[in-house]
Amino acid sequence: MTDLRQRFQDADQGHVFRFWNELDPIAQKRLEEQAGQVDLELVALHRSLLTPGESPSAPQFHPPQLFPAQPQDELAEHAGRARTRGAELLEQGKVGYLLVAGGQGSRLGFDGPKGMYPVGPVTDISLFAWHAARLKAAANRHGHQAPWYVMTSATNDAATRAFFAEQEYFGLPKDKVHFFSQAMVPALDMEGRIMMAQKDQLFLAPNGHGGTLHALAQSGLLRQAMNQGIETLSYFQVDNPLARPACPLFLGLHSLAGAGMSSKVVAKTDPGEKVGVLGTADGQLGCIEYSDLPAESRDARDENGDLVFRAGNIAVHALQTQFVDQLTRDGLDLPWHLARKEMNVVGDSGAMETRPGVKFETFIFDALAKSPASVTLEVERHLEFSPVKNAEGSDSPDSCRKHMTDLFAQWLRVAQMPEPERDGLGAARLEIDPCFAENETEFLGRMPADPQAQERGNLYR
Ligand code: UD1
Repeated sequence: MTDLRQRFQDADQGHVFRFWNELDPIAQKRLEEQAGQVDLELVALHRSLLTPGESPSAPQFHPPQLFPAQPQDELAEHAGRARTRGAELLEQGKVGYLLVAGGQGSRLGFDGPKGMYPVGPVTDISLFAWHAARLKAAANRHGHQAPWYVMTSATNDAATRAFFAEQEYFGLPKDKVHFFSQAMVPALDMEGRIMMAQKDQLFLAPNGHGGTLHALAQSGLLRQAMNQGIETLSYFQVDNPLARPACPLFLGLHSLAGAGMSSKVVAKTDPGEKVGVLGTADGQLGCIEYSDLPAESRDARDENGDLVFRAGNIAVHALQTQFVDQLTRDGLDLPWHLARKEMNVVGDSGAMETRPGVKFETFIFDALAKSPASVTLEVERHLEFSPVKNAEGSDSPDSCRKHMTDLFAQWLRVAQMPEPERDGLGAARLEIDPCFAENETEFLGRMPADPQAQERGNLYR
């Protein structure tokens, strides 16, 4: 303890123990354990980032080369080969699924892991259950149940594991679901001092989804995956129930290109939409945050009237296990991003107060710059992207239910089935289980031959 306190003192973070004498032995132990896990060198690095250095000259942004959503001619032929290749990878057990669910979901205002949020328009099943249903559907289709790696963080790990257990792993084999937790890093005040959430607790926050790679390697799951012959990790975010992690086209394009990391994007149609866009900055592929894109680039249109920077990041990636292994072997070096926020913390007097502070995160898409080759596949937004991020408005549970309704209603229309009535927000009690059909073609294929068949009504769920 003396040694620990000394180290904090030397790092100018001794204030962390200022309430020590008021704490009971259990609280003292808790603080000691937490403090013992803090990487003080990293904290010093974070502190140095608070003082902005010389601002680098604005990089030259360029749009990435896109593989189009509607490929023609040779690209269509290439897409056909890619689909076959992707399906082979899935059948041969060379793909594992990687879900990131370590975030705090504060914008949604939901008390619990975001993956527990009910999104099924009829069944009210959770985001986790939706994703699980897709993975089950993929296993049925490709004859192989691939492992599912679920990243949590200290803020939601226990609750996530308990939910999976309580829901019996949503019907997936328990031994195919693996949890691992990302690291937490202390938030700092504007002077670079570690903030306290309680007198016996540091203010810790998840280290960003860039932390996935290191956490996966450290947990031993990366090695385990490689030993099992898994070559590609299909990465997706918990907040998007339309994500399709078992996409043969994407996996196949990624594989045929010999890429280390690839991405799916959707066309941004409104220049003001607050999503990152994929592009190159000083020749390196990455995701350019909305706020970093100069107005003239953001609004620029090409000769067809499309936005030049339209490759909206939906945070769906394919990553080679070999690439992740290489990246993490000598310590992963991703840039740190600073999020300035008002935080509820213990002040010097010991009372709770709201103070400005800074959280530190790395982002997975910064690894794109390190990939020797990369595919950026444009996909249709209405088929693959409707995230649940905000409590209301765009990217909310309401907008997501409406988009799900639109999608499923379209399949009903093609099958000449009646559509259920919609509510004032455009949603309906309409849900099609991914295990029944994941797209229009599959849906039509599963319908009874007689278009008048009464049983059709029973297919509503
Ligand atoms: C993110 C992307 C944005 C993209 C959008 C698409 C960033 C900085 N931006 O925005 O370019 O257009 O998604 O939906 O990521 N997570 C963790 N651990 C963390 C932080 C996040 O697991 O430490 C997970 C969350 O659980 C969530 C996902 O990462 O599943 C997205 O995180 P979030 O912070 O909500 O990113 P957005 O700002 O929505």
